[in-house]
Amino acid sequence: MGTLALAAKVTHVPSMYLSELPGPHQGCRQAAIDGHKEIGRRCRELGVDTIVVFDSHWLVNSAFHINCGAHFKGIYTSNELPHFIRDMPFEYPGNPELGALMAEEIAKFDVRVQAHNIASLELEYGTLVPMRYMNEDQSFKVVSVSAFCTSHELEDSRRFGEGLRQAIERYDGTVALLASGSLSHRFAWDRIAQDKLNAYTREFDRQVDKRVVEMWRNAEWADFCAMLPEYAEYCFGEGGMHDTAMLLGALGWDQYQGKAEILTDVFPSSGTGQINAVFPL
Ligand SMILES: [Fe+2]
Repeated sequence: MGTLALAAKVTHVPSMYLSELPGPHQGCRQAAIDGHKEIGRRCRELGVDTIVVFDSHWLVNSAFHINCGAHFKGIYTSNELPHFIRDMPFEYPGNPELGALMAEEIAKFDVRVQAHNIASLELEYGTLVPMRYMNEDQSFKVVSVSAFCTSHELEDSRRFGEGLRQAIERYDGTVALLASGSLSHRFAWDRIAQDKLNAYTREFDRQVDKRVVEMWRNAEWADFCAMLPEYAEYCFGEGGMHDTAMLLGALGWDQYQGKAEILTDVFPSSGTGQINAVFPL
């Protein structure tokens, strides 16, 4: 019987990579990087062997997909933001066995899911950025899940999470789950992008994010699950907030009772709202 050892909602903003490099933005995302490093430390302490990432940058137009390649290695430049992430080397082991198990169990929840072990199927930066700070020593195998779902119901992502929990029960090992995506996500308009690197685009989003984090801290999960579809719509949820629905599906949805532990306080980045939060098990 496997163990789900850690669950978290995490940021993956590419300015974290800029923050490492000499220049005007050096150090600007240190708190976010420290939050990732702390999650990595806890995963090691808990004996995690595999991290499953719900990646809100992996856009899919049909079905749910699992990238369970055997090994990931390369040099990554973002097509979306090549001026933010350029020539970032990465190498992580994969876990085809867990990916196949996930597809088998999730399909039982009436979700159209496929697992892929294809050498040329690449990781997106929703996975690569957190792994850079949590998994630099390749301690953990990586499985990536498509969570930028353009034509999918949040209800199906919830069931994806429920099925994943069943897969972990059958898996002979210890797993961590990361929902890699933002809170609100109204990206700054291009003409003001440079002024908004460390600001929200809209005050409305800042206020809703504040309230959402308060709900997470207070374990108001039934109310949060009820508002999630509207939150995703009105606050431009990244990838439709499918990453959050998958994570909560795995944790029990509106029956989940954990009080979120905020590792990195909410911060604005290029107009969006970001956080690192652990959801206790
Ligand atoms: Fe993003």
